[in-house]
Amino acid sequence: MIELNIDFTAPFIERKDIDEIAPEVLSSTKVLLDRSGAGNDFLGWLDLPEHKDSACVRKINEVAQKLRERIDILVVTGIGGSYLGTRAVVEALQSPFAALRQGESPEVVYAGHHLDGHYLSELLRLLDGKDYAVVVISKSGTTTEPAIAFRLLRNHLEQKYGAAEARERIIAITDASKGALRTAVNNQGYESFYIPGNVGGRYSVLTPVGLLPIAIAGYDIKALLEGAAAMRKQLLEKANDLYNNPALLYVAVRNILYRQGKRIEVMVNYQPDLYYFTEWWKQLFGESEGKEEKGIFPAGVSFTTDLHSLGQYLQEGHRLFFETVLHVQKPKSNLTIPYDEEDLDGLNYLKGKTLHFVNQKAEEGTALAHRDGGVPVMQFQIPEVNAHYLGQLIYMFEFACGVSAYLLGVNPFDQPGVEMYKKNMFRLLGKPGF
Ligand code: PA5
Repeated sequence: MIELNIDFTAPFIERKDIDEIAPEVLSSTKVLLDRSGAGNDFLGWLDLPEHKDSACVRKINEVAQKLRERIDILVVTGIGGSYLGTRAVVEALQSPFAALRQGESPEVVYAGHHLDGHYLSELLRLLDGKDYAVVVISKSGTTTEPAIAFRLLRNHLEQKYGAAEARERIIAITDASKGALRTAVNNQGYESFYIPGNVGGRYSVLTPVGLLPIAIAGYDIKALLEGAAAMRKQLLEKANDLYNNPALLYVAVRNILYRQGKRIEVMVNYQPDLYYFTEWWKQLFGESEGKEEKGIFPAGVSFTTDLHSLGQYLQEGHRLFFETVLHVQKPKSNLTIPYDEEDLDGLNYLKGKTLHFVNQKAEEGTALAHRDGGVPVMQFQIPEVNAHYLGQLIYMFEFACGVSAYLLGVNPFDQPGVEMYKKNMFRLLGKPGF
């Protein structure tokens, strides 16, 4: 199981601090589990791992298997919670060079997550010469970015394959009964899945929103759900035992540090394949907690790359941060540093050592340096990056996010602030009614 390591010898956190905040954390947990807090009609995600053997998961695997056999590229079209979970899992599991390793699995590309015309025109140019399908995901069915991308992609599909075949290459994931995308499904007869009404976008990766594209990409969604189910079991069994509940311990530590004035949490990875996991986590916590002038700002870095850029600021800039490290115990593969007769690069002292060993020493050295520099560091111990442990991480962070937001006194499941930019944009674009 995934565990959280806290260095109680560091000056920032002592056991008594945890003991002091524990009653508040446990009462916020009770609010979540009793389903008595704000946004309690959006708690469907709590039980999603239990659906691992459901008819819906079987259908997802069937549809995915059929599609995998006929396409080179899958275009996942969505924004925010409608694409980040997929991207987090796919990029964590695929080869960093997946795009260049043709013929192994459909390559997953993304659209509708911004408004850049150059990106979309290059995508359409690429798709001219590829066999592809589109999974369009929008719970509301009306979000501007994916709606524009989908309109362009649908036109491209129709021109390339004709209207009838285009319809077979579109799968929509949206609300069960309402919204423009559901109407399109009804009118056009697209294959479709629904997002449960009681699951919000950023908590939806374990619904068809994430499961279908992840399965089309060739990854084991049963293992993902089993990992989430194992974590769910532990978190529920230990709902009153903060020290043995990694989600609650994490909530306690991050909120102690927040109250000490550490307003920015930096998620740190030492494997670039976790970059999009951090992006998913940023969205989850940023949209859930950043309200009413409260909340910890979630940021992310990839080390050692960013030690040569932001590392300087973290070491010596404003003391606003704490770090949450994703520590991976077993790498997916490894290399040994060879002996060199001339040793011009002075690396012979590392001969026979693995890259993973060197990476770990970099991690240990950085944690010590940052602690000395006034940055508290905690670590999640992740046995390895696979579907099972990603499932555990996803569920643990979702649970922690719900509890932490309640502890802050905000609704974890709405995002009223997101509407402000939309209103202005629509007015500037001349949308009727704005
Ligand atoms: O977490 C959320 O609710 C948001 O980030 C949404 O996922 C995002 O805005 C996309 O919304 P929709 O799926 O309705 O297009």
